[in-house]
Amino acid sequence: MRLFDHPLHPLLVHFPIALWSLATACDVLTWFGFDSAWHYAGLSLGLGFGFAVPAIVAGFLDFTKVEGVALSTANTHMLLMAAAWVIYGASFMMRVEHMSLLAQPPPFAIALSLLGFGMMACGGWYGGQLVYHYGVGKTGSKDSSSIETQCSDR
Ligand code: HEM
Repeated sequence: MRLFDHPLHPLLVHFPIALWSLATACDVLTWFGFDSAWHYAGLSLGLGFGFAVPAIVAGFLDFTKVEGVALSTANTHMLLMAAAWVIYGASFMMRVEHMSLLAQPPPFAIALSLLGFGMMACGGWYGGQLVYHYGVGKTGSKDSSSIETQCSDR
């Protein structure tokens, strides 16, 4: 999925990456007495969960064009990022009660936030491999054949 000849996925992923990283950072800050950080952690988690949806859709559309040597890396990236989305989503759901954010989420919700961050960081590394090692999405050509050629040449 491209806009002005640029893949949309790499553009869209910055929002969930920034928001989820902020959420986990705020969770860690609460260990150092910044109690109000709970609220920002919950807000960032919820926004990140929503912003990930268009990123995932664009990622899937690009994924359908990946084949050859890059495919196993694309599969690993997709699984790690899908897991990060589900784990961060579960962490968010555990913080919401009666449509409002809990003052202090249960410890398991924080553990999920840290696990989600780890999954996202690993998934992001595999995403970078797709672009910077296999050249997926880098061609700028109108059709997808160059992506396949790029992958199979390696
Ligand atoms: C779960 C479904 C997903 C699929 C199928 C997927 C697929 C892809 C594909 C095919 C690429 C190569 C570049 C392109 O063609 O766009 C890529 C790159 C990347 N993806 Fe995903 N992705 C998914 C979810 C995510 C999510 C949720 C994030 C972040 C929260 C993410 C972060 C990245 C990053 C950082 C790159 C490298 C882009 C760059 O640095 O230019 N992906 N992904």
